[in-house]
Amino acid sequence: MKIFLDTADIEEIRTAARWGILDGVTTNPTLYAKVGGSYDDVVKEICGITSGPVSAEVIADDVEGMLAEGRHFAKLAPNIVVKVAMSENGLEAISRFAEEGIKTNCTLVFSTNQGLLAAKAGASLISPFVGRLDDINQDGMTIIRELAEIFSIYDIDSEVLAASIRNPLHVTQAALAGAHIATVPFKVLQQMVHHPLTDKGIVQFKKDWESARAAAAARSATKS
Ligand code: G3P
Repeated sequence: MKIFLDTADIEEIRTAARWGILDGVTTNPTLYAKVGGSYDDVVKEICGITSGPVSAEVIADDVEGMLAEGRHFAKLAPNIVVKVAMSENGLEAISRFAEEGIKTNCTLVFSTNQGLLAAKAGASLISPFVGRLDDINQDGMTIIRELAEIFSIYDIDSEVLAASIRNPLHVTQAALAGAHIATVPFKVLQQMVHHPLTDKGIVQFKKDWESARAAAAARSATKS
């Protein structure tokens, strides 16, 4: 499963890239609002850090507006994926982008049927929001599992991107459910790295190493 970072924060993206585990980035208006500046500049900078897909989201509600914004994003860098919210107009825009060879990520997907329609319209990435479904007492991971199975049965090229990931368990569950990609906040990525026994073990090994060195130094001082 590929791992994308769900952020517009450049330092977080640089850090994940240095760790060697970054396959792409997703942004949205909420994440952009946290960093500010020019959205074009932020997206271009992200595309300079990763060669993987970078999602930039259109805001227009009408098809022509979505197309204008998406075509503009697509010119910013070769790895841009235009993010389009699920809707009747969104499906039309996704289908037009597909004809133009522009990759899309259909976002705000909350049902398997929405995901199936987005794939049929030609979206490269389909983003079910797992955490927001869990928030309303529906199992978000069911959509991931069903879409992964349907895409496999019908040999559909679209990739299932588990979004709205809130904790490390979601990442494991998404991988087991067959998600092609999980996009995760930086905090969740850090939580995935750490385990209390790992951190405790590192401290203990360092302490034992220092004790052993001190004992060796004391022995050699006694001999001379
Ligand atoms: O990728 C979509 C994601 O940013 C939404 O996450 O936590 O706001 O539901 P959340």
